[in-house]
Amino acid sequence: MMQTEPIFSDNLEQEFTDRFGNSPEFIVSAPGRVNLIGEHTDYNDGFVFPVAIDKYMHIAASPRSDRQVHLHALDMDEEAIFSLDVPDESETPAWCKYLKGVAYLLQEMVLSDMGYVQQGMSAVITGDVPIGAGLSSSAAFEVASALAFLGVCGLEITDTGVDTKADVTLIELPPTELAALCQRAENEFVGVNCGIMDPTISLLGKTDHALFLDCRTLDYVQIPFSLTDMLLVICNTNVKRELASSEYNKRRAECERGVEIMQQWMPSITSLRDVSLEDFKKYEAELPQITQKRCRYVIEENTRVQNAVSALAAKDFNTFGTLMNESHAGLRDTYEVSCDELNVLTDIAQNIDGVIGSRMTGAGFGGCTVNLVYSYAVETFHDQIMKVYTQRTGIKPDIYVCNVGDGACIKWNT
Ligand code: GLA
Repeated sequence: MMQTEPIFSDNLEQEFTDRFGNSPEFIVSAPGRVNLIGEHTDYNDGFVFPVAIDKYMHIAASPRSDRQVHLHALDMDEEAIFSLDVPDESETPAWCKYLKGVAYLLQEMVLSDMGYVQQGMSAVITGDVPIGAGLSSSAAFEVASALAFLGVCGLEITDTGVDTKADVTLIELPPTELAALCQRAENEFVGVNCGIMDPTISLLGKTDHALFLDCRTLDYVQIPFSLTDMLLVICNTNVKRELASSEYNKRRAECERGVEIMQQWMPSITSLRDVSLEDFKKYEAELPQITQKRCRYVIEENTRVQNAVSALAAKDFNTFGTLMNESHAGLRDTYEVSCDELNVLTDIAQNIDGVIGSRMTGAGFGGCTVNLVYSYAVETFHDQIMKVYTQRTGIKPDIYVCNVGDGACIKWNT
């Protein structure tokens, strides 16, 4: 959960000092994620299986004595100031919506009950999670913002047993609840209808583990996933995800429609999570064709996730890879959220010897693929993707060889 790994960027600390005249009181870091399998299942109360990647959003911060928030986003070279009392009164860049939403909800849902008032903050923000690539830079930013706003109040969420600063109060706020708060900030303040997976893995990620998360109960199991003779390679199509938001909402609506129709035969179901493939087959012919395809994909993907978790636990990588490839085929042909560039990437990858599995990851319509590749094949993989993808699409991809990172952490500057 809350790790105390020192991810303390000297440069970030220096930037903070140059700007605000003294050292930051702390730096929070929250990772992006890649989902191994279980796509578009979170908002259907289903199963997901993501890992945190070793790419982070960092916020260096100190409390202010007033209720102002002074921000400097290093990578964009932008500044913003707003007041917690009247956050909407000042013109601020779009990325401030995340912070405003998180601060508002923290006050409403956490701090008021505990008798706290949100403190103002001075902060410098930076990060290396590629933005808009489907690796959850937004969730990483929300989670980092939430920990920073708590941090300036002298609060930290944690399990027991974590070494922390003496005058910090540990609060009993389960990470899944904080994740739900972050999700709500994105839904209500940023206007993106995302699910619970991304902020949850950003908070709960653990080195050498993948998170098997039940998105209905928010129960989870950390499954050992150590990359001894293989690597996690992420390929970025570098295609702008223009359709992602509107098509995402359409998929959600189709799934809800499917549930509504099927409720006439199965009144107790509340989401696609409740429908077995066997039951679905009895009624699928009654559904409109598109609804039928969307529902079938989700029901099959939920089963794939559970099989993939068993395969990984048994170190059966062949089965795991096959399930990844099948997941991609479902997203491409049945759920229809892939795009030509993602299909080109998986097509090249799945035909390279030493690639265990390859699929699109995240919402789709651009963004990235996730590939599990034996170490001996990584060089060939890199060269082939660079060459053939560029030939076939005219676009240069980005390739990130990632480690499974730790979840969000705070490092106090003592
Ligand atoms: C986006 C959303 C997630 C999830 C994925 C698809 O990343 O933010 O909640 O729905 O798409 O699996």
